[in-house]
Amino acid sequence: MNFRTIIEPFKIKSVEPISVTTEDQRTHFLEEAFYNPFKLKSEHVLIDLLTDSGTSAMSSKQWSAMLDGDEAYAGSKSWLRMESEIKDLTGFEHILPTHQGRAGERILYGYLGGKGKVFISNTHFDTTRANIEFSGAEAIDIPIEESQHPLLYHPFKGDMDFLKLEQLIKERGAENIGAVILTVTNNSGGGQPVSMHNAERVSEICKQHNVLFILDCCRIAENAYYIQHREAGFENVSYREIAQKMFALSDGCVMSAKKDGLVNMGGFLALKDQALSDACTNLLIITEGFVTYGGLSGRDMEAMAVGLREVFDPDYLRYRIRSTEYLGEKLFKMGVPLIWPIGGHAVYIDAKSLYSHIPVDQYPGQALVCELYLKGGIRSVEIGSVMFGKYDDNGKLIPAPNKLVRLAIPRRVYTQSHIEYVIEVFEKILEKRIQQED
Ligand code: F0G
Repeated sequence: MNFRTIIEPFKIKSVEPISVTTEDQRTHFLEEAFYNPFKLKSEHVLIDLLTDSGTSAMSSKQWSAMLDGDEAYAGSKSWLRMESEIKDLTGFEHILPTHQGRAGERILYGYLGGKGKVFISNTHFDTTRANIEFSGAEAIDIPIEESQHPLLYHPFKGDMDFLKLEQLIKERGAENIGAVILTVTNNSGGGQPVSMHNAERVSEICKQHNVLFILDCCRIAENAYYIQHREAGFENVSYREIAQKMFALSDGCVMSAKKDGLVNMGGFLALKDQALSDACTNLLIITEGFVTYGGLSGRDMEAMAVGLREVFDPDYLRYRIRSTEYLGEKLFKMGVPLIWPIGGHAVYIDAKSLYSHIPVDQYPGQALVCELYLKGGIRSVEIGSVMFGKYDDNGKLIPAPNKLVRLAIPRRVYTQSHIEYVIEVFEKILEKRIQQED
């Protein structure tokens, strides 16, 4: 039977109170935080949509597995359990545990990078780009053209432009390409999915030129959901099998398990090649820890082993994707301009269109971030000129291309009524905007 209401596929066993504040209090808190949501105390936030990273609620199975954590320095059974789970999922032979995604990025891209090297991605996430550039290498984004048009519908707006990929490899020389990185889903591009067809093309091109192909797979379960529902030929393939098929196309992956690993901390690097893995293992030991824990406690590894399986549960994924879509679709119907279609983990609002009267150098995105906090205690993040803007020699802003605000949805944390509340806060913001225009 098909019901209109998509319920949370879980019961709540433990609750964490959130504090209700008044608008007057929030005015004061925001001033104290210098209008920077990262400086707000989380106890002064009602609904925290700053990030979906490390903010998941763990299941009772994860909590109970944690008690079984083996904290041995070497050869811990929790490590063996997590390693076998990751091997089974990714198909890669060499697994390196890290405390989070960027630690894996620093190790892999630090090793492969350096002056003269080029990395190519659909869109590098900020920490990925930073680790590459820090090594002296260059990071180039080549998302498909359709991704540049916020309102245009495309089922796989996270795809990479593979014609440009081919051209770039020829121009720069295959020997100078550090790696090609496919970010699934494409976080900085609006949480949009990447199709299997696109991953296949990228894989073929990389093989043809003998270039390393890496997946940034932190939201690969969410990506698999879209492939099953939007790409022909995958209707009857399970989410986990879809992810496995995508891993099989690549030479390795970097994962921040703080997203689709359903844990609060953790990550890993998984590689096909023995020599590359040996080089990375040496770097791992220098900064992260011994090879059987890499900065993680035994209990963290237990939680990750369980989370990596739970995330592919069809009821969970349906609830996850549909609840983000629900928020986005409601806002869209109310006239809030946003990136369409709605991405997997977040709704991205086009603040420049919403606040067209606010000049770019007065940061429309940040204005919306502040307004959401003042009106409703909602914390969000600007992805525009505050985050990525540069300044010329006279201190004049060189604006970033996007002026977005991201509402990222933590996994299994908020219920439908929390989301209804967020929608109501937007209604009030829109009313105020219309009154101001009158
Ligand atoms: N890659 C992608 C696509 C990410 O979204 C992130 C983190 C990372 C790598 C780095 O992982 O945080 O575990 O070191 N994204 C978070 C966010 C911070 O809010 O989108 P990490």
